Amino acid sequence: MSIVSNSLKRIKPSPTIAVTSKAREMRAAGKDVIGLGAGEPDFDTPNNIKEAAIEAIRSGDTKYTAVDGTPALKKAIQSKFLRENNLSYNLDQITVGTGGKQVLYNTFMATINKGDEVIIPAPYWVSYPDIILLAGGKPKIVKCDEQDNFKLTPKKLKKAISKKTKWIILNSPSNPTGSTYTKKEIQELSKVLIKYKKIYILSDDIYEHIIYDNFNFFTIAQIEKLKERTLTMNGVSKSYSMTGWRIGYAAGPREIIKAISKIQSQSTSNPSSISQAAAVEALSGTQEFIKTRSDSFKERRNFVVNSLNNINGLSCLKPEGAFYVFPNCKKLLGKKTKLKIDKDFVEKLLEKSEVAVVQGSAFGLDGYFRISYATSMENLKKAMERIKSFCGSLN
Ligand SMILES: Cc1ncc(COP(=O)(O)O)c(C=O)c1O
Repeated sequence: MSIVSNSLKRIKPSPTIAVTSKAREMRAAGKDVIGLGAGEPDFDTPNNIKEAAIEAIRSGDTKYTAVDGTPALKKAIQSKFLRENNLSYNLDQITVGTGGKQVLYNTFMATINKGDEVIIPAPYWVSYPDIILLAGGKPKIVKCDEQDNFKLTPKKLKKAISKKTKWIILNSPSNPTGSTYTKKEIQELSKVLIKYKKIYILSDDIYEHIIYDNFNFFTIAQIEKLKERTLTMNGVSKSYSMTGWRIGYAAGPREIIKAISKIQSQSTSNPSSISQAAAVEALSGTQEFIKTRSDSFKERRNFVVNSLNNINGLSCLKPEGAFYVFPNCKKLLGKKTKLKIDKDFVEKLLEKSEVAVVQGSAFGLDGYFRISYATSMENLKKAMERIKSFCGSLN
């Protein structure tokens, strides 16, 4: 009998991390691989944030803190929600974890009973279904169509709800599509959710600040009737290029916040005291970085979308947020190209043209692939040329 637990057997390692590792291996073997698989901004953490961390070390801010975050960071998060989202929370409605991922993990561990269903619109961020499975829940995957910009419609939502539905996860802007829900679209989904009073909503807003074309970000907790059963998760990883610092947070119902803290107290305890001090500066200091960085991402998005739409066999929507695009490669699959599924396309692209991307099926929707454009224009130009000649060789 295997030493590995049955619950662990239910899940698989992250496919995005697998692609990044494969690209790293090929690079180590001397290949000129361009990685478009990673889910992190290529910008450095802004200096004012680094300085705050250095100051925390110098002043001895190096001890255990309260399990679910220092009062200073909770206050900074409280102000952020009020300033940016017009949402008011008490400090005991806020929790801080080691990355948004830990906050999500703790949330589902703390609230899911065996057999509880969680509605996950696909394409989805790869970790959602596996976290739910680990917690003993049942992911209810709802495929969203390209013609709906990969977004959940009220009709599909209604159809997916059952007596066992405990949570629904919304992620806007989305990883992997970059699609972002408008206020109107959220209001339409809310009309359905208001009727089902036992369902909780997890809003993953981690890409809130990576948004283009003056898009007005709106989050579902802003719907008054849903606020008391919405947990809004966010973090500093993507907004402030702080992926390695590991700070994520959430605000919502006290009962859930307390339960998250209980789990954290018996696992990792507090997130790093130094990273928390840095996150205070990120949320309360100058926000100039967000604007400059978004301008740069926008230029890359436009370039990548235009380039992909000029490649025979590919088509690509222009998303409003995040740093991903999700091109359709269905025309290049089939007998003629001998590539059956998107995974074959992605593997051949890496092998022949040395460009690393991730297949759509890893995110729950076949026939697509995800490109992360969080890399230099120079790399993107080279990558687009390689993808073009690869697709040309298939036609
Ligand atoms: C949609 C989404 N949610 C949450 C996270 C977690 O981010 P972190 O744990 O770095 O805060 C990620 C990271 O890739 C993500 O893409």
